[in-house]
Amino acid sequence: MEFYSEKEQITTIIEALKLKGLTLGLVPTMGALHDGHLQLVKRALRENDKVVVTIFVNPTQFNNEEDLEKYPRTLESDLELLETVSKDNIMVYAPLANDIYDDDIVSQSFDFDGLELEMEGKFRDGHFDGVGTIVKRFFDVVKPHNAYFGEKDFQQLQIIKKLVEKLDIPLNIVGCEIYREANGLAMSSRNTRLKPAYKEAAPFIYRTLTTAKTLFGTDSVEKVTEWVENQFATHDLLELEYFIIADEKTLKTAVQKSNKNSYRAFIAVYADDIRLIDNIALN
Ligand code: PAF
Repeated sequence: MEFYSEKEQITTIIEALKLKGLTLGLVPTMGALHDGHLQLVKRALRENDKVVVTIFVNPTQFNNEEDLEKYPRTLESDLELLETVSKDNIMVYAPLANDIYDDDIVSQSFDFDGLELEMEGKFRDGHFDGVGTIVKRFFDVVKPHNAYFGEKDFQQLQIIKKLVEKLDIPLNIVGCEIYREANGLAMSSRNTRLKPAYKEAAPFIYRTLTTAKTLFGTDSVEKVTEWVENQFATHDLLELEYFIIADEKTLKTAVQKSNKNSYRAFIAVYADDIRLIDNIALN
């Protein structure tokens, strides 16, 4: 497996691959890889000749210093895991901040037509400017044909599609289904930081989402939301930050159901100091 930490090196290699007419997939990650990431990489390998996996904990998308500091960094085991998937067709690009940011580690400011103002945007100030900035930089360096993102961060996925559309970047964004533990907990790098009691409690999030989906078949948005809020109000360990039923395209909170629209339920929960998010398609 090839490993690069400098933009200049990987740019030269990519230019050579492009001259040969090979297709390139990109899987951007912040490392601490788990099976969910590996699913993205495997899909990218099926659909492209070569795959670039970026591993970079992006400082500009964190609005909380402590969260950034505590984010798991496990480069060695990440590389070992990727080796088990493919020795020949994966290139890893794990830059230092100054390399990818050209010594100017700040976010660009974006207008994502209001998608950035909903849900995560309300609770994580500047988060999507940081995501947009780093993802655009990776697109510029790698110039992939296809880029792969998980639906666990569904709002991020919609925002990246918007970024590509607005800036007219010639690439295909592929959204991939949420990959879950056997108990339903959405896979996330943050799960490794859960203390045992919270790890045991966390599948309650997905169980609640699946029941909310069933209730949504017959009940109003308001009733389902109230039901979910009550479930968490009495929970000993998990603290609900938000539960929102939103239109899948606009991400605006739904008021009344219309069978012309597709809806998704979005949730953010604190398990101790670890913030977990998840979502589910409702119709
Ligand atoms: O989803 C993530 O891991 C990050 O937000 C991403 C897309 C790699 C950008 O840093």
